[in-house]
Amino acid sequence: MAAAPNSTVRSMFERFRQRGARPTLYIVGMMPAAWTLYLALSDRLGADPAKVLERTLGLWSLRFLVIGLAITPLRRLGGPNLILYRRAIGLLAFFYAALHVVVYVWLDQTLDFSAIWQDIIKRPYITVGLLAFLILIPLAVTSHNAMLRRMGGQAWQKLHRWVYLAAAAAALHFVMLVKAWPAEPLIYAAMVAILLLWRVWDRFIDAPRREQQRRTRAPSQQRGQGTSATKVASRDGR
Ligand code: HEM
Repeated sequence: MAAAPNSTVRSMFERFRQRGARPTLYIVGMMPAAWTLYLALSDRLGADPAKVLERTLGLWSLRFLVIGLAITPLRRLGGPNLILYRRAIGLLAFFYAALHVVVYVWLDQTLDFSAIWQDIIKRPYITVGLLAFLILIPLAVTSHNAMLRRMGGQAWQKLHRWVYLAAAAAALHFVMLVKAWPAEPLIYAAMVAILLLWRVWDRFIDAPRREQQRRTRAPSQQRGQGTSATKVASRDGR
């Protein structure tokens, strides 16, 4: 009898996780942009509101990039499985990067495209930031399921691995634009470096080890459970 309310709560939670969590994430994720825009419009961003707006948007883009990269390691380390939200987080990173660029082009450079071009070729941190942004464009465009089906899983995954380069370029962009060595850009650079190293370790050291374990386990399970080779193979996702 006591299990009924429990299971109702659980099924409500599951329904929210499946249907409501992503829209909520988009809304919550856009709040920093809305809030900063509100502060800018109500003249509460200090002496140089365009600069503060530009920096805040760039910082949120980098934050979402780092969160997106942390999702798989978090799950592997026994944390929550947030894979369902990775696309939304990636799109939020792109959304903030696009707004960051819009503010740069429109408010910072007042649509002076020759000055922007000079900036791109003369200031390496702008070149590196642009590289990060250009990488994110095809990732955002191909992020939906229809494109995943059209491209095929392997090609899609291969393309989306470029997010690591985008994040590295974005972190470098941040480190390069500061004159001294304040902690914040270095902390972001360290986080991206750790996540990148984890990815390399996972792909080239841990994944072959897991595969080896799976291969040695499969025949004994097959004997013990009396299942056919096909069943074992399909259960293991081969
Ligand atoms: C994924 C792409 C990008 C990310 C994640 C990103 C991130 C950042 C971050 C974190 C900052 C520093 C914020 C702070 O000081 O607290 C910043 C500043 C800045 N970024 Fe980007 N950025 C990107 C692309 C670009 C591009 C494409 C441009 C220009 C073409 C650009 C131009 C600038 C400028 C002008 C600043 C401010 C520099 C200053 O303080 O004077 N960024 N960006």
